[in-house]
Amino acid sequence: MSGSTIADEIKSRCNIVDIVGRYVQLKRSGGSYKGLCPFHSEKTPSFVVSDSRQFFYCFGCGASGDVISFLMKIENIDFHTAVSKLSEEYGIDMDRFGYRNEGKKNEIYEMNREAAVFFYRNLTEKPNPGYEYMKRRGLNPKTIARFGIGFAEDSWHALLDHLRQKKYPEKLMLEAGLLSASGEKRYDRFRNRVMFPIFNTRGKVIGFGGRALGDRGPKYLNSPESGVFSKKNNLYGLNLTRKEISSSNCAILVEGYMDLVSLYRNGVMNTAASLGTALTEQQCALLKRYTQNVVLAYDADAAGRKAALRGIELLRKAGINARVLHISDGKDPDEFITRNGKEAFLKLVDQALPYADYLISVAREKYDLATPAGGIGFLKEIRGLLSSLSPVEADVYIRKIAAETRISESAIRREVNETAASEKRTADAGAGVRRPVPASGDQMTEKRHMEGDEMIQMHFIKLAAVNPDYLEAMREYESVFEDPAYARIYAMIKNVYLEDSEVDINKVSDNLLPEDNALFQRSLQRVVFPENSDRVFQECIEKIRYERMEKRQNEILEALTLLTEEESDRDRADALTKELIELQRTMQNIKLR
Ligand code: CTP
Ligand code: MN
Repeated sequence: MSGSTIADEIKSRCNIVDIVGRYVQLKRSGGSYKGLCPFHSEKTPSFVVSDSRQFFYCFGCGASGDVISFLMKIENIDFHTAVSKLSEEYGIDMDRFGYRNEGKKNEIYEMNREAAVFFYRNLTEKPNPGYEYMKRRGLNPKTIARFGIGFAEDSWHALLDHLRQKKYPEKLMLEAGLLSASGEKRYDRFRNRVMFPIFNTRGKVIGFGGRALGDRGPKYLNSPESGVFSKKNNLYGLNLTRKEISSSNCAILVEGYMDLVSLYRNGVMNTAASLGTALTEQQCALLKRYTQNVVLAYDADAAGRKAALRGIELLRKAGINARVLHISDGKDPDEFITRNGKEAFLKLVDQALPYADYLISVAREKYDLATPAGGIGFLKEIRGLLSSLSPVEADVYIRKIAAETRISESAIRREVNETAASEKRTADAGAGVRRPVPASGDQMTEKRHMEGDEMIQMHFIKLAAVNPDYLEAMREYESVFEDPAYARIYAMIKNVYLEDSEVDINKVSDNLLPEDNALFQRSLQRVVFPENSDRVFQECIEKIRYERMEKRQNEILEALTLLTEEESDRDRADALTKELIELQRTMQNIKLR
């Protein structure tokens, strides 16, 4: 049993054909089943379910996966729910797979929901200071309902009594942090506070943030960390905003609950709040599920700026394009948007500075650039940053900085190059931690004897012939089959697969022209996979991507040389330069890997 997961267990017990068969009319076809794809509309079946590989895929829309992902997709549920459903149906004991706490977790979620309803009723069904406060801050009943905002009255046991009556054990209330203990005494943790329930993206109430109304205790009090509530893994509001974040392909990250609520109510819905902690790696990863673009909208004070500096580095490390927005009126996004409205706020978002510009602007504020000493100090502070940028990107900034400081471009370049060289020396000195050079060369047989492009075509043919799972993954790279002979072989493999749902190599051979068949046989013999074919496949793909980028890079460079300094060309030149910078950065990353 060791090493096997609950997903393995599910797949070994239930048959994907049965599960898919509940939603799709399947017809046997060779070793597999075929039907109309449930994920896109079609008239002729291109949806294949393989009995032997317990896998589905659609040649029409590209949907593919195992039984769990099928259920997730068709029922629109998350992994955990799909696993629970299947486990229940097939009598699989989830406890054995480390899902032991799920039962109790669910009980806490339920109890938290009960508490949230209780707080909400306190706020909405009778006069209370919480409602007055929220009203003063501009919230209307609709927003209050949307976020489930509530009120914990100024009592030591109002919630305790209520939950007791609902038969929840005190132990559970303590564990969830709704109840506090002091010796033998038990009392409500949240008193005289406006309550913000915190949901995870599955819609479970995992905890609360309570804002003080009086001046007792901290301004914001959160649920304590527990098995169900972990600040570093969650973002406030994301349950309501993730759709908007992914459709707008941008997230605005704020510090406070009220910032988020306030932006949302003013119509800026692609936001998330970081739950009163410094941004974490996990939160970056969570955001990245929905978008690659994040705008930090932190408070205008020194603490907020420090947090933004840290945040922008962290986001960048996570592979997110981060920009920083500067609040120009008021202390936080809430105050700004309340005073100036949505359009003004969106303007700030537009003007948010990208990584390098932001760091440069922070450094610039510290120096008086009108004096030589100021200029030099400024330059010394940012030269490390400049040397970390791609040459094209650095070039743009160097020109700007030269104009600002009146230090000559060439002097700045020397500084930057010197920094780069000394950084490299330091890195080399610490060679003990250098990454090993990947031994990719010996994975690719015949690499040295063949033209690169032919090598990829040959590998693809072999991969597709021995394991049709690769056929699906190759779809977006079909253009590599530049040689018509390879293209014909590839098309034949695909045809055989579509007909039989498996690839009988002999059948492919029989149907090929003799000279194509000779090439096919040669591909099969000459390509060997010393280790694992996935890795070979990945390497081929990387090579294709890299070549595509190189090609595009040359196109851009060529186009740029043709453009003039004229006004009319400037936008286009800017756009091309921007693309070039992105491209070079990506290529650099690939080379570093
Ligand atoms: N915070 C916290 N504990 C505190 C203070 C703040 O957890 N004692 C967190 C909360 O998540 C809060 C965020 O930090 O939302 C921002 O705090 P702050 O800027 O002080 O509050 P505002 O969001 O401006 O709150 P308000 O507008 O309600 O005054
Ligand atoms: Mn505020």
